[in-house]
Amino acid sequence: MSRTITRRMANVKPSAVREILKVTADPSFISFAAGNPSGDLFPVEALREYSLDVLANPASLQYSVTEGYQELRDLVSERYGRGYNLKKPGDDTIIVSGGQQGIDLAARCLLEEGDAVICENPSFIGALNCFRMYNAELVGIPCDEYGMLLDELEVALEANPRVKLIYTIPTFQNPGGTTLPLERRRKMLELALKYDIMILEDSPYFELSFDGTFPPAIKSLDDSGHVIFVGSFSKIIAPGIRVGFVIAPDWLTSKMTVAKQGADVHTNGVYMRVAAEFLKNYDVDAHILRCRTLYKEKCGLMLAEMEKKIDKRVRWTKPGGGLFIWCELPADKPSAGLCETLKQQKVAIVPGVAFDTDPDNLANCGFRLNFSVPSNEQIISGIGLLAEGISEYLDK
Ligand SMILES: Cc1ncc(COP(=O)(O)O)c(C=O)c1O
Repeated sequence: MSRTITRRMANVKPSAVREILKVTADPSFISFAAGNPSGDLFPVEALREYSLDVLANPASLQYSVTEGYQELRDLVSERYGRGYNLKKPGDDTIIVSGGQQGIDLAARCLLEEGDAVICENPSFIGALNCFRMYNAELVGIPCDEYGMLLDELEVALEANPRVKLIYTIPTFQNPGGTTLPLERRRKMLELALKYDIMILEDSPYFELSFDGTFPPAIKSLDDSGHVIFVGSFSKIIAPGIRVGFVIAPDWLTSKMTVAKQGADVHTNGVYMRVAAEFLKNYDVDAHILRCRTLYKEKCGLMLAEMEKKIDKRVRWTKPGGGLFIWCELPADKPSAGLCETLKQQKVAIVPGVAFDTDPDNLANCGFRLNFSVPSNEQIISGIGLLAEGISEYLDK
């Protein structure tokens, strides 16, 4: 039996984040390494009630159409398509098994081997690995505290005729915590039109704004069919239900639907209906407000503790929403070394190399902190321990 792994899989490493989560299964660790929403916010009672109702209907257990449960598609088109001006003439809405699948199906339909994908550097590891699996070249664009640097984007587009896609998380970015201002969104769209390149706008966090405000989606600014919007219920309902959506031009959603047939036939029928019940019957906005309020408090606490305790040579972002703060050590101090030091303190963070478009960039000096999962007590003591570990590492 030949045990040759395909070229597209051979170079993809397991997600460093998932590996770190194994270490932090040790309960004596304080973990700022998670990528999860807070389990305390899951609307468990409502989901239980809706699940029981849905399961009482045998149709929810039957095979279904690949585009997704029609009522949910309509509700998504209403809330997001109309509510946020994401659905334009010629667009369609399909339901996918989490935003991750939306990214994968878009990549499968758009990328030939050797095509290049522009990404923020750093970016979401699940998307980077997905593009790697299609043998795409990743072109990382540096970011500042507002996100992608558009002058650098223009240089990269000019230099690289193989660019097929711009992948961006413009609002409360993972891992950067940054939000791209309106002017830069307009400029990105202008460049996409100039070079006739699609933008894959991945936006699972935009509703988790601390003060309820966020710039308009890039998709909402576009009337030319150059933007694919990927959304998710993972962060506002629960990730375990695996329900997300794509709003994109129908020439693409129709192909993505064919690709989905080969991947998983359709998204879980029970949870598509449960998500529909949630949108129809639950006070979704009140629930999102609870999420925003908790995350604002936790992020505020973490930032205040950092301000008090962490060495001033370290810089960090001040997110307006989402789940993450991005930190940077001085340029000659790679964060992988800090992670080693922090094993003694029993604090886990994710080193920036995990989110780097170059997975071998061991010089990466950034790291990501998550504030949604640790308790307030863990945030206070954990930032103290992190500060100790940082001082020890910087003075080595
Ligand atoms: C930026 C980004 N996009 C997409 C996803 C995928 O989410 P899901 O597949 O659960 O919708 C995540 C998950 O953490 C994410 O951070």
